[in-house]
Amino acid sequence: MAGHRTIIEVSDAAALAAAAAERLIKRIDANKDRPAICLTGGSSPKRLYELLATDTYRNRIPWERVHWFIGDDRFVPENDVLNNMAMAKGAFLDRCAPAANIHAIRTDAANPDEAASLYARELQAFHGSGRLDPARPLFDLVLLGVGPDGHIASLFPGYPGIAVTDRWVVGVPEAHVKPFVPRVSLTLPPLASCREMLFLMSGEDKRAILGRVLAGEDLPANRARSNGETVWLCDRAALPEGDSV
Ligand code: 6PG
Repeated sequence: MAGHRTIIEVSDAAALAAAAAERLIKRIDANKDRPAICLTGGSSPKRLYELLATDTYRNRIPWERVHWFIGDDRFVPENDVLNNMAMAKGAFLDRCAPAANIHAIRTDAANPDEAASLYARELQAFHGSGRLDPARPLFDLVLLGVGPDGHIASLFPGYPGIAVTDRWVVGVPEAHVKPFVPRVSLTLPPLASCREMLFLMSGEDKRAILGRVLAGEDLPANRARSNGETVWLCDRAALPEGDSV
């Protein structure tokens, strides 16, 4: 149901990575054409990415057909340790996916706005349209982590990017939290255009922000909803007292 949110509790970070891998593979299997996955940066997905490169999971993914995008990136060179796509490449993509199926944000562009336009064009070329159609989602799966201020991708609370609906990708000149480097971020409409949006919440550091999200505060993390299914995968340490499911 669109707008509805399902919360799934798992025991710990290892169980969370395994559960996320199963959901990702299920979404890939359901698309017999060209599955599109929108990855996320930060530390939350790293364990999942590493798991996908292990034999058990690697052999279950039709790498030739799957396309990998990223919801946001830090505007730093592509080999910088802060670069989100570099993290995903190092963790699994470089070993598993054909280079042509890895769609990175061009951080060698002149500035974040130009990188945003280039990435919007790349997404639209892949989608075969500049318009989002609820009947034909852009992504099969969108992965998201949540920052301590409730941001997702690089859509920070109170920043203009969160309200943008006429562009798929925006340049974000300043970050609200570390690392304080300019960012490039998908906006809410393309992120919502997915069969499943999967939030990864692991560890006690996430408990405070998860409490605020579950209390219904107006945060980017609460505005981000899939037009399909929205799932919050949370381990026990991340769930606030009394919010166990
Ligand atoms: C980034 C991200 C960002 C991240 C959250 C959670 O570039 O930093 O894409 O949105 O997902 O800040 O980060 P952690 O997983 O490191 O807590």
